[in-house]
Amino acid sequence: MFPWCFTILAFAPDLGNALKRVQSLMFGEEIGQGSICRVYQATCPSSNEQFAVKRISLPKSVCKRAEVLQRAAREAAAARALSDLVPHPDEIVRHFACVYDEGEDTIDLVMELCRGPCLAQLRNQTCSGCLPESRVRNMAAAVARALGHLHGIGLLCIDLKAENVVLDPTEQDPDRVRLVDFDLCRDIPGHHCRCGDEAAATTTTVALVDPTASYNTSNTNIVVPAGGDDHDKALTRDDNNERLWGTAEYLAFEVLQDGVAAYSTASDWWSLGILSYELLYGKAPWSGPSVDVIFHRMTNHRLLFPGPSQGGPQQVSVIMQQLIQGLLRHLPDMRLGSRGGAREVLAQPALSFQKSPGM
Ligand SMILES: Nc1ncnc2c1ncn2[C@@H]1O[C@H](COP(=O)(O)OP(=O)(O)O)[C@@H](O)[C@H]1O
Ligand SMILES: [Mg+2]
Repeated sequence: MFPWCFTILAFAPDLGNALKRVQSLMFGEEIGQGSICRVYQATCPSSNEQFAVKRISLPKSVCKRAEVLQRAAREAAAARALSDLVPHPDEIVRHFACVYDEGEDTIDLVMELCRGPCLAQLRNQTCSGCLPESRVRNMAAAVARALGHLHGIGLLCIDLKAENVVLDPTEQDPDRVRLVDFDLCRDIPGHHCRCGDEAAATTTTVALVDPTASYNTSNTNIVVPAGGDDHDKALTRDDNNERLWGTAEYLAFEVLQDGVAAYSTASDWWSLGILSYELLYGKAPWSGPSVDVIFHRMTNHRLLFPGPSQGGPQQVSVIMQQLIQGLLRHLPDMRLGSRGGAREVLAQPALSFQKSPGM
């Protein structure tokens, strides 16, 4: 249960009620772990509603603390930006609150609970380590719609990977998947700043959404704790060093070649190509022990779609191969999605059986 020592909560439109609801949440089992957090199931005892709470423990070391704080603030800012979307996209998990607990020195992000495993776990639960093409096509289409929504509000996803797509089955759609984890999100260059360094500074405005009120939002300031004197320097150093964002196997050709400055919406479409391939074949098309090795293989090794006779796990249709090839074009301008966005991707024969993106 949440202790009573929050400094600031983020919830609306009825702050008082929402506050009580968040404070009364009972924590249940751990359902996930990430690089900076643990994710728990939580229940509101009065209503029995269930939530997921991403608990980020703030490190004591000044530099690490600044980095983790910045990631938490980015996620809060992305959640704020996403809450402007009415209705909230089904393919993206909805955040309700961001809470700093002074006693525990933790930040809790309260969000919708997805009831299935992430796609990395789902894949590992199968004997072959991969999923049938029909399922992958459904999932790829949902992720394409999610990316379309993010790009539409000026955000780059950056960290699309199997761990960050979670199954959340419904009766109508047992394969419904939803995007989670927005702590690496960035603004699309040239767009109004939503979760760049300014928005992710020590004071951030986040959306406050009461889980009972459908689509009514209002804002309040949430003050996240200061990262120490070194905070700004740590951020500058981070940027100057051009530390790569995201996960090496998923990073686009241009990002490995030219660094983070080359990251664009096309780079997110590349990650969708890698994700689709990994779900179908059980591994990314190019992997290796270091970014350099991955880049070398990406540059020199052709994209292969081995059928069962060549040791592959399944025969993938030509239209699905074409989709992946289009998403994995080295030149970002030539890549599927780079000009026509989600509509262009969803219009591909492998995905066009899907419901319209509605964007
Ligand atoms: N809303 C949610 N419902 C269910 N599981 C979730 C939810 N959000 C995250 N998870 C699980 O927790 C894991 C870690 O969360 P994530 O946000 O990805 O953390 P990190 O930013 O540290 O990678 C995810 O890979 C996923 O398995
Ligand atoms: Mg993650």
